[in-house]
Amino acid sequence: MEQPQKNLNLDQLETFRNSLARFMMYYKFGMQEVSTKIDILKQEFQYVHSYNPIEHVKSRLKTPQSIIGKAKRKNYDLTIESIRENIRDIAGIRIVCAFTSDIYRVAGMVMQQKDLTVVDYKDYIDAPKSNGYQSLHLVIQVPVFMSDRVEQVYVELQIRTIAMDFWASLEHKIYYKYDKDVPQKLRDDLKEAADTIACLDKKMEKIHKEMQAIRVTNDRKDKPTDPDHTTKELTNLSMNYLSILFNDHL
Ligand code: GTP
Ligand code: MG
Repeated sequence: MEQPQKNLNLDQLETFRNSLARFMMYYKFGMQEVSTKIDILKQEFQYVHSYNPIEHVKSRLKTPQSIIGKAKRKNYDLTIESIRENIRDIAGIRIVCAFTSDIYRVAGMVMQQKDLTVVDYKDYIDAPKSNGYQSLHLVIQVPVFMSDRVEQVYVELQIRTIAMDFWASLEHKIYYKYDKDVPQKLRDDLKEAADTIACLDKKMEKIHKEMQAIRVTNDRKDKPTDPDHTTKELTNLSMNYLSILFNDHL
């Protein structure tokens, strides 16, 4: 593979630009594959459990400029091979859930998909970063089927609650505003806010569990006690109606 080392001539630069464009395409496809999987899980879960564990999903591709910037910062070789192996967040998907338990539920559903390989798992909820940052991070590999080969593409998943996301976006803005040199007072305030958020998430989880328990009790109350009830009801339906119903679902 062509190497964008120092003193490239114009032809070499053009060739590198083309390989980079092709390389970026794999990540776009990989991200689409994983986004579709997440969307399927979301819709199926809603259908089966009448409950949606995912509030929203955002995905992004790193720009070539930011990939090269990271490679330089981390002292990685500026070659396609080195970027492919070392920079594993070129494709990133952020999944925002309402409750902490949903984070692990969603992660579990993703991790058990046979065609995905989990290569990294960092639980910053169980062990938050020293600044207070919380999220569950996964790096997975997804196969992308091209016309002549299968490319394994890394995709970074960040799964967090709405409250964690709120905190992280503010912290990110502050970090960039101060060009990474955030005054100690602000750091302390942010850490305090992170602790409050962790506490809030725990409270919301507790209320959510209570609500679920109430729903289960109500569902049980609503269910007919006679086990033959449904069968009898069905037999009472006219065949005409059943055939309409059946055709409707084809
Ligand atoms: P990178 O080299 O940045 O990828 O770091 P890493 O390989 O140690 O990965 P890590 O899992 O710690 O972080 C990956 C991503 O999570 C970052 O690019 C951010 O999007 C997010 N992140 C991690 N730490 C923080 C933080 O303290 N604040 C905010 N706002 N986001 C963070
Ligand atoms: Mg990163």
